[in-house]
Amino acid sequence: MLITSVKTDPIAMFAEDVRAGLTRPEQKELPSKYFYDEIGSAIFEAITLLPEYGLTRADERLLRKYSDAIAARTTSPVMVVELGSGNGKKAQWILKSLARRQPTTYCPIELSHSALLACEREIDHLEGVSVLGFETEYLDGLRRAASRRAQNQRLLVLFLGSSIGNFDPGPAEDFLRKICDILAPGDALLLSADLVKPIEQMVRAYNDPTGVTAAFNLNLLARINRQLEGNFDLLHFQHVALYNSRERRIEMHLRSKCSQTVTIRRAELVFRLEEDETIWTENSYKYTPEEVIQMAERAGFHCEAQWVDEEWPFAQSLLSLA
Ligand code: AVI
Repeated sequence: MLITSVKTDPIAMFAEDVRAGLTRPEQKELPSKYFYDEIGSAIFEAITLLPEYGLTRADERLLRKYSDAIAARTTSPVMVVELGSGNGKKAQWILKSLARRQPTTYCPIELSHSALLACEREIDHLEGVSVLGFETEYLDGLRRAASRRAQNQRLLVLFLGSSIGNFDPGPAEDFLRKICDILAPGDALLLSADLVKPIEQMVRAYNDPTGVTAAFNLNLLARINRQLEGNFDLLHFQHVALYNSRERRIEMHLRSKCSQTVTIRRAELVFRLEEDETIWTENSYKYTPEEVIQMAERAGFHCEAQWVDEEWPFAQSLLSLA
């Protein structure tokens, strides 16, 4: 079953955010949440298969290895709420382990309608699991799911894929605090985070030689052309991924190869880009295992367990309310 939230006009919001980001006086920016239209989500799925992008496989290895240990910690019926479920593939191991022991409800939360439908198809065949999807923002979905829990039902929130890395550190901690405020004693959060590793390895993960990540980044301009009547010429932009050592984050930018003027009709915007000027599209912060625990503790959690993948430095932390 799918529950769709009442939305304000998504195209108007997109236009407003694009206008705000591209009229900034110094560094132009576009919010990374707009990567994920139908084409962007499909390209992201391809990224997760790239040999250079080890995050998803590390996440999956840890889930395969530790799902039983996580499931063994609870005997009550469980509601698993996944923030940004994608096609639901990653949640399967936990759901199987839980459903062997107790009735389990799975609540995927996603902005993309097609991803939610794919998720339902993927999970529907799992015995002992009922699915209740929410097409809305993370925290709104979590609140709605939590308000439907049965009296003895525990919540296990999944925030996987290192999506926490796409928040700046302050907002990341605030976000965890807001999750904490919605949860009750006995609930838990399983949080994934990509870890700091050799610079070359990190940069290659975001600048693969086949150009899939470049297509992911450029699709943001193509999406503006499609949905907001923009006239970006994609051939005049270059994908850039760099590691900012001071902030410990990968930054993705789109570099203008020449000076040019761009019009975006539905954002009522005409603006200039100089040669080599960039539009900043994403940050992906890299953590140490201790930093993840410290941030979670400041947000009100207690770390029950933390597992690190042996092939690709990547951590999963099981957090309960402090
Ligand atoms: C979704 N998120 C965790 C990805 C990341 O690694 O920051 C998005 C991504 N951007 C480029 N490649 C993948």
